[in-house]
Amino acid sequence: MPVFVVSDPQATTKSRNTLRESDSFGNSHEKQAINAKFREHEAGAREQISNTSVHEDLNAVIRQHSEWLASQLHAQRESLFPPDASKTMRKFMSGEAAALLGVNDSYLRKLHLDGKGPSPEVTPGNRRHYSAQDIQDLRVLLEKTARKPGDYLPGRREGDHLQIIGVMNFKGGSGKTTTSAHLAQRLALLGYRVLAIDLDPQASLTALHGVQPEFDLEDGGTLYDAIRYDDPEPIRAVIRPTYIPNLDLIPGNLELMEFEHETPRALAQGNAGLFFFRVKEALSQVDEDYDVVVIDCPPQLGFLTMSALSASTGVLVTIHPEMLDVMSMSQFLRMTADLMDVIAESGADMSHDWMRYVLTRYEPADAPQNRIVAFLRTMYGESVLNAQMLKSTAISDAGLTKQTLYEVERSAFTRSTYDRAIESVNAVNDEIAVLIQKTWGR
Ligand SMILES: Nc1ncnc2c1ncn2[C@@H]1O[C@H](COP(=O)(O)OP(=O)(O)OP(=O)(O)O)[C@@H](O)[C@H]1O
Ligand SMILES: [Mg+2]
Repeated sequence: MPVFVVSDPQATTKSRNTLRESDSFGNSHEKQAINAKFREHEAGAREQISNTSVHEDLNAVIRQHSEWLASQLHAQRESLFPPDASKTMRKFMSGEAAALLGVNDSYLRKLHLDGKGPSPEVTPGNRRHYSAQDIQDLRVLLEKTARKPGDYLPGRREGDHLQIIGVMNFKGGSGKTTTSAHLAQRLALLGYRVLAIDLDPQASLTALHGVQPEFDLEDGGTLYDAIRYDDPEPIRAVIRPTYIPNLDLIPGNLELMEFEHETPRALAQGNAGLFFFRVKEALSQVDEDYDVVVIDCPPQLGFLTMSALSASTGVLVTIHPEMLDVMSMSQFLRMTADLMDVIAESGADMSHDWMRYVLTRYEPADAPQNRIVAFLRTMYGESVLNAQMLKSTAISDAGLTKQTLYEVERSAFTRSTYDRAIESVNAVNDEIAVLIQKTWGR
């Protein structure tokens, strides 16, 4: 597994100084004069630095820290994903490919031997490895002779509406981004055409997909461009493909905050229109291009989240089953209901296909957590997904290298750890896929 590169952000300054000290100069008089000048200059710089720290220009300090951090993160990404710093998807073993396609591995081998469909990479040990694109090509091939339409391409058919899934909870760290990323990737690997939207200015979903908000989005490129009040851009301008076939991304960054600041102003001036429909209206431009949209919401109940909620046909509320989180969720639900009442009063349609709670970072051996899970299940019944995201070091370790469980190699983990984690994540995602299919009447 790749390691983090942590280097001293001031190292460049230090080495520059050392170089100057060891530079060779002509005669010793010249050398002394230059050294004196240099010391003078250094004293000035030191004074400036100490003045900065005495007056504590907080803005400057924070800016400096942000620049250090951004450049470190950039260096880290380059070391993790060299040489062009862009991510690629790993290959899948034949068993994994067969499972994703819902066929037997022996059938896949026969296709390969008969020269049908894409040619997998064959290792010296005679193992077949399929790329995500191979799997997609096989889907298209198999669908042609499928017993039922949609066996291999499970997306929308004539008359089915776009599924927009908002993943939310204003509790920070409740697993929204982890849930959104795994859901979007799994659905894409299963053959759905998926658009993932990062609506969180923190941009974790964006970073997870190899786009670095500070470097790659200097001239905009977030959903904000398509939902702003002043001269919005077409949503297609901010959609970018990812390294996974069927999965596109609208990245996020701090610019999204503008929507929180601008909406009250636009409302006061009477030109916000129906602010809560901004996301829905933007998405309607690409309605035909996707089967499912997954929106990773910020951990707050602002205008962005309300607009995502109004666009959503399915709502997934992530809950970490601990008392403080559940108490905070109680407030989240009450505030959401209050805000939605206001929106409904202005004539908005509040109908939706489904709303589910998903338990995240669940530890089955933890007795207090189990009490809370039992309490939630009793209270909310089938609104709580049966499957739950288990807490696993496989998930958190994968996250450290900006990957999901679908991206990491199984061999990087203890098998049982990886298998337990991926089974739980797949079970959650597949339960949601069933809900999607039900919505389409299947
Ligand atoms: N099932 C899991 N097992 C182990 N660690 C997890 C799991 N799910 C999430 N985490 C870790 O918990 C942290 C928070 O998760 P995540 O970022 O998904 O939450 P979030 O709700 O999106 O947070 P925020 O509110 O800040 O956006 C991350 O470090 C993530 O790697
Ligand atoms: Mg998040």
